[in-house]
Amino acid sequence: MAKFIITGGNRLKGTITVNGSKNATLPILAASILAAGECIIHEVPYLQDITTMSNVLETLGAKVKREGTTLIINTRDIYSWEVGENLMRQMRASNLVLGPLLGRFKQVKISYPGGCNIGSRPMNLHLKGLRALGADINERYGYINVKAKDLKGTEIHLDVPSVGATENILMAAVMAKGVTIIRNAAREPEIVDLQNFLNYLGAKIRGAGTSLIKVEGTTSLHEAEHTVIPDRIEAGTYLIGTAITGGDVTVTNVIPEHLESLLAKLKEIGVKVEVKDEAINISSTGCFKATNIKTMPYPGFHTDLQPQMMALLTLAQGTSVITETIFENRYQHVSELRRLGAEITVEGQTAIIKGVKKLSGASVEATDLRAGAALLLAALAAENSTVIEGVEHIDRGYEQMENKYNTLGANIIRV
Ligand code: UD1
Repeated sequence: MAKFIITGGNRLKGTITVNGSKNATLPILAASILAAGECIIHEVPYLQDITTMSNVLETLGAKVKREGTTLIINTRDIYSWEVGENLMRQMRASNLVLGPLLGRFKQVKISYPGGCNIGSRPMNLHLKGLRALGADINERYGYINVKAKDLKGTEIHLDVPSVGATENILMAAVMAKGVTIIRNAAREPEIVDLQNFLNYLGAKIRGAGTSLIKVEGTTSLHEAEHTVIPDRIEAGTYLIGTAITGGDVTVTNVIPEHLESLLAKLKEIGVKVEVKDEAINISSTGCFKATNIKTMPYPGFHTDLQPQMMALLTLAQGTSVITETIFENRYQHVSELRRLGAEITVEGQTAIIKGVKKLSGASVEATDLRAGAALLLAALAAENSTVIEGVEHIDRGYEQMENKYNTLGANIIRV
């Protein structure tokens, strides 16, 4: 198991380019099943989660080839509709094959993804949507068995705007007879990217990015090529890292509108933000004010940036309040931040962060992906050295995080 040794105190400076989005790539790779042919996907990051999704496609019988940041996936000869426990346990997003396998083959069997570090994360809305389209669903012995004679367009109202449920329903609905309308759909940019890819395959979808998505079903789709949008969470993590170290960094290959809620908060607490076409420059004196944050579905403040923002607010002047509304157990970084000297108390879904003058290095553990990112940022600002264990969580979502931050002046060693 790898760990990071981080010597804090260096200000981040320079220019850094963001990779393609992990959370946009994962459903797009799954959607390539619908093409029944070759898809070429550009700007695919080198991440463990992408390898896991490639492995999922390969166990189904697809061929996946990487050429740099391009993935070439051929799904013509898929011969299996089942994903077993091993791959489902590695990554929850493996469940994104439900919709496309059902759409193309009218059957799919996956092992239940189970709980996860940040909360129970049920799949009831995915299954409710697929049932409404005409699927027969059987949950037994830890497996979800989905079959349909025919998929028929219908109206589906999501109780909460779940990203994964919206994606799975979309990918099944493109092959349903007639029109499907998804109400209270998730509005995340990754859903828009999936819509664009599906439309390149020949689907007829309108409305992604709003809460009402309309799909006109079709009988067959075809090969396509697509370039994935930039990763707004990777970008946001650089921005917060720059702010916490009192640095000056230009982050390129970003879509600034995707980061509006974060940029508004950074400006509010006194960090200088300059937005260009596809770049954001951020400069920080290292002094910033406290604020209150509530995580919300897009375009609200992203839950995947909550831990990193909490790391920043541990050093703010005054007391901040964070309310996590998306996941029930997303404060595991709190006890580790406390080890670094942060003053945080948690009451239910609310965290109260009393700003301190400095953090000091300690041994900490990354318990999930974004918690790991938060610890890395805190360690960059802390005095002395910090050791972060559990780096495999960080590798799931950040490509060579230590190298990229080291090019900006950080001192991170992987051992
Ligand atoms: C996706 C992202 C993840 C991000 C999350 C919220 C990917 C691969 N992952 O995860 O990084 O943190 O969106 O923006 O894109 N829920 C239900 N029933 C369901 C489905 C979800 O109750 O059937 C609840 C969840 O428990 C959670 C909320 O809905 O409280 C949001 O989850 P969801 O949007 O589905 O997240 P994911 O798609 O799993």
